[in-house]
Amino acid sequence: MVSVAADSAKCGALREELVGELRDLGALRSSPVEDVFRAVPRHLFVPEVPAAEAYAAEQAVVTKRDDLGVAVSSVSAARIQAFMLEQADIRPGMRVLEIGSGGYNAALIAELVGGSGEVTTLDIDPEVVGRARGLLGMAGYGHVRVVLGDGALGAPDSAPFDRIVVTAEASEIAPAWVEQLRPDGRIVVPLRMRGLTRSVAFQRDGDGLVAEDYEVCGFVAMQGSGARAQRLVVLHDDGDRQVGLRLEPGLRVDAEQVRAVLSGDRAESWSGVTLPPRESYADLELWLATALDGHALMTATRQARDHGVVDAWSRGGVAALLDIDGRSFAYLALRPADHERTEYEFGAVGHGPRARQAADALASAVRSWDPAARAVLRAYPASTPTEQLSGCILDGTAYRLTISWPAQRS
Ligand SMILES: C[S@@+](CC[C@H](N)C(=O)[O-])C[C@H]1O[C@@H](n2cnc3c(N)ncnc32)[C@H](O)[C@@H]1O
Repeated sequence: MVSVAADSAKCGALREELVGELRDLGALRSSPVEDVFRAVPRHLFVPEVPAAEAYAAEQAVVTKRDDLGVAVSSVSAARIQAFMLEQADIRPGMRVLEIGSGGYNAALIAELVGGSGEVTTLDIDPEVVGRARGLLGMAGYGHVRVVLGDGALGAPDSAPFDRIVVTAEASEIAPAWVEQLRPDGRIVVPLRMRGLTRSVAFQRDGDGLVAEDYEVCGFVAMQGSGARAQRLVVLHDDGDRQVGLRLEPGLRVDAEQVRAVLSGDRAESWSGVTLPPRESYADLELWLATALDGHALMTATRQARDHGVVDAWSRGGVAALLDIDGRSFAYLALRPADHERTEYEFGAVGHGPRARQAADALASAVRSWDPAARAVLRAYPASTPTEQLSGCILDGTAYRLTISWPAQRS
């Protein structure tokens, strides 16, 4: 599909390297997805950067920023595209809707569905639509439909779909996605749940959805009618020493009071639960988000940690518990469990009048985590009575999402 001149030998070698790296990272798991990463010339879809950068496995290429410099459109990192396509299990002949267009991912999908399939990619931003349409045409994928619209409404003119792949962070499932999905269809969506984003592979299950496959990811925020911004409450702002709380809509905190207690007395509580350094504890974070009412995320810069303002740092946020008195809170912390630092222990640091209770509650939630457990996510129509649901319930406009941990009950 692509001229030999444009797709130079150098880029072919870079693609081969990328495929090897994606395999080593565990993002590529099947030969059809591996083959399409080998086939589609990624560099043609990111002419803004040199080829070597285009083929970096972990790097998204930002293609548009808003007035504040926040990324609003990008061609996602190849690693994320690879595992989402594996989650989607796209086969020849399928009709696929991609929500959020960059061009490249739609081309990968077009290769997966082949000549008998159909791909529609939809974006809310006319500039992005124009860019994707132009690049897809130039790279030989002019048969991909590129549509301007709000992803929350899906693409009724091209429905029904076997697969819907959402590539902007959603805070809930849009009813149009389920309505436009075939009975055995699948939706892969980066879903934000209590501040944590996971790419979730939902299989249709009657009038709802069920998922057991989810992966950590990060995406630009959904715009349009499905946009649900989080609030950032600033707790400390002194040059590069910054601490804040990221709150989902509906969660309230007395910002003045919490700010005041951050510099006051503190209490620590340690759990006895340890992990080796660099081992992911993403499932612990999801467990805490589902186990704690009053869960928020504390964001902090490394400088804030280094100067003793807080004991943990993360731009994305560490698990925090807002205590019932509205003036106390605790956040997740780590300390070496032995001299050699072969293991780290999880604990909690609390502040405020109920610092001890908040820290103990967070440490106790860590102790109740089963590292072997994986969550099951289900989406039920909003009319489903609570008695029929189990696990942590996150209510959206059209769906009630439940997150349960089956192995925990055994
Ligand atoms: C990460 S980019 C898409 C990446 C792309 N799939 C690729 O090839 O890597 C996310 C896109 O979602 C788009 N977007 C955000 N909200 C949207 C909405 N409500 N409907 C459609 N597109 C939306 C943004 O304009 C942005 O271009």
